[in-house]
Amino acid sequence: MRFLKKGEKKQPDPSSDAATKAHPDLKVITGSEISGRQPRQPTPPQPQQQQNITLPNIKYKIAVASGKGGVGKSTVATNLAISLANAGATVGLLDADAYGPSIPTMMGIQEQPKTSPERKILPLVRHDIKLMSIGFMVPEEQAMIWRGPMLHGAIRQLLGDVDWGELDYLIIDLPPGTGDVALSLTQALPLTGALIVTTPQDVALADVRRGVAMFERLGVPILGIIENMSYFLCPHCNEKTEIFRADGGKNTSERFSVAFLGQIPLDAEVCTAGDLGVPIVAGHPESPQSEAFGAVASELTTVLEESGEEDELTIL
Ligand SMILES: Nc1ncnc2c1ncn2[C@@H]1O[C@H](COP(=O)(O)OP(=O)(O)O)[C@@H](O)[C@H]1O
Ligand SMILES: [Mg+2]
Repeated sequence: MRFLKKGEKKQPDPSSDAATKAHPDLKVITGSEISGRQPRQPTPPQPQQQQNITLPNIKYKIAVASGKGGVGKSTVATNLAISLANAGATVGLLDADAYGPSIPTMMGIQEQPKTSPERKILPLVRHDIKLMSIGFMVPEEQAMIWRGPMLHGAIRQLLGDVDWGELDYLIIDLPPGTGDVALSLTQALPLTGALIVTTPQDVALADVRRGVAMFERLGVPILGIIENMSYFLCPHCNEKTEIFRADGGKNTSERFSVAFLGQIPLDAEVCTAGDLGVPIVAGHPESPQSEAFGAVASELTTVLEESGEEDELTIL
């Protein structure tokens, strides 16, 4: 290390911006090089593709997202949907996790949806929830390799070709991370907002920041952060043990000035209930775990009422 002499200007260090430059041995490959063809002329916009699906009979369209997989996004989405239904709302649950649709298993239903005489897909109904999954569109054993336009088409179909009827809430379970499905969804439909599920550790919270940034770029309001697996509640003595860092989700929500909707305990019954297809809020609505989901649902309702976020009818 050399110190600068008085008046000497700092010379740019060739290694200091290494992170922003491509490695000299790595060639940046463009799309046309991959296909071996000349770049295609941009196609004129397709009016049908550009048109938004409005779903005016659904009051709140809410995406449930997470920075990473395995934080309990689908568990939260199902139990939250049932908590809202238990509070008297009409609720639909759309499993848009193209890479790992798990809602049918968690809700205990595997049949194929039927089609109405008007050629609309009829959602299945389970635990008082209208249910559709992207998993119903492909055989289970088929590898979930989606090409962008295919995924876009599937998302549009799940929204526009399904007979959702009148709903207070449509909860949409997204795949983890920031990607194609969120983009297709926001291009297809004006969302009321997004919920972000996280666990309290720093590694998960770093991904929350990316999730928040993505939704901000897409113009989707963040309705709040839900911290899952926050603490272990001893079934014998009811003592709370904070296994991971305490209050990580709460601190992160404060940093981003987004609402903190609550904490869900890490609990074996939450897990087994999901595996058995009867989410804990449906099977044991009086349990402390279900109360935690109920508290999140009630916070969400408050945030929605306070923000006055309600999609207006779009006159076409
Ligand atoms: N609060 C919780 N307590 C115990 N297990 C949980 C909890 N939340 C989720 N799980 C379990 O963790 C695993 C991943 O949850 P899942 O909802 O599928 O995550 P994601 O949708 O984010 O990938 C599942 O086996 C689920 O049952
Ligand atoms: Mg999931």
